Amino acid sequence: MQISDMIDESPDGYETLIFLYTSALHKIHTKIEILRDEFIHLHQYNPIEYIKDRVKSPESIVKKLKKHDREETLSNMVQYVNDIAGIRVVCSFTADIYKIAEMLGKQSDMVVLSVKDYIRRPKESGYKSYHMLVTVPIFLSDGSVDVKVEIQIRTIAMDFWASLEHKIYYKFEGNAPDYISRDLRECSQIVSMLDQKMLELNTAISETRITEVKSEETKRR
Ligand code: GTP
Ligand code: MG
Repeated sequence: MQISDMIDESPDGYETLIFLYTSALHKIHTKIEILRDEFIHLHQYNPIEYIKDRVKSPESIVKKLKKHDREETLSNMVQYVNDIAGIRVVCSFTADIYKIAEMLGKQSDMVVLSVKDYIRRPKESGYKSYHMLVTVPIFLSDGSVDVKVEIQIRTIAMDFWASLEHKIYYKFEGNAPDYISRDLRECSQIVSMLDQKMLELNTAISETRITEVKSEETKRR
C-alpha cells in the first residue's frame, strides 16, 4: 500500500500522515538501539553517544514545500519532503559512523533510497555528516506502507559544528558576513583534524596493554 492510498485531502489526513512518520521513527530508533546494545554485548564498547529524533513541524513542512514551489497538499508532502521523519545518530568516532551505516544498510526490511556522504565530500559551508534516506515498512491492520526516514549520522565534533552553523545561518538569514563563513570553514577543518586525532588515539589505546604502558614508563624514568 502507498501512503497516498491511506491519506486523502481530508482534515485528518494530516494526522494519519504524522502517525505514520512517528511510527517509522520509532522503528528506526529501536533498530539503532538494538545495534548499539549488540555492540556493547559483543565488544563491550558503545559507538553511539546519543540518538535524537523529531517529526518536522507543520510550519517547516509548509516552508519546505514553498521553497520548492509546490502546493501545500498531503501528497506533495509525502513526495517532496524527505525529512518529515528525521533521526540523528551522534557517534564518538568517524569509523563508527560507517559501521552503523553499513549495519543499517544490510537490514532486509529497510530500503536505502539514497546516501549523501558529506564527510568524504563536505558541503561548501564546511558541513559534515553522513545522510541516508531510507524507507521502512509500517505494518497496519490491513496491510503495510513504506515510510521515508532521513538518518543523519555524525560525530560529536561534527554535531557541535552543525549546531553553531545552524544558529548563525538563522541569525543572518543565510547571509552571514564573510569573516564568519570563513571562520566556520576553518573550524570545519579543525573538526576533521580533531576527529582524526581522537580516532588515532582511541585505536592506540585499544591496542595498548597496561603492562606495555608500565614498561614504557619505567624506561622513561
Ligand atoms: P534540505 O537541505 O533539507 O532541503 O534537503 P536536501 O535535499 O538538500 O538534503 P541535504 O542532505 O543536503 O540536507 C538535509 C539536512 O541536513 C538539512 O535539513 C539539515 O538538517 C542538514 N544540513 C544540510 N546542509 C547543512 C548545512 O550546511 N549546515 C547545517 N547546519 N545543516 C545542514
Ligand atoms: Mg539542503
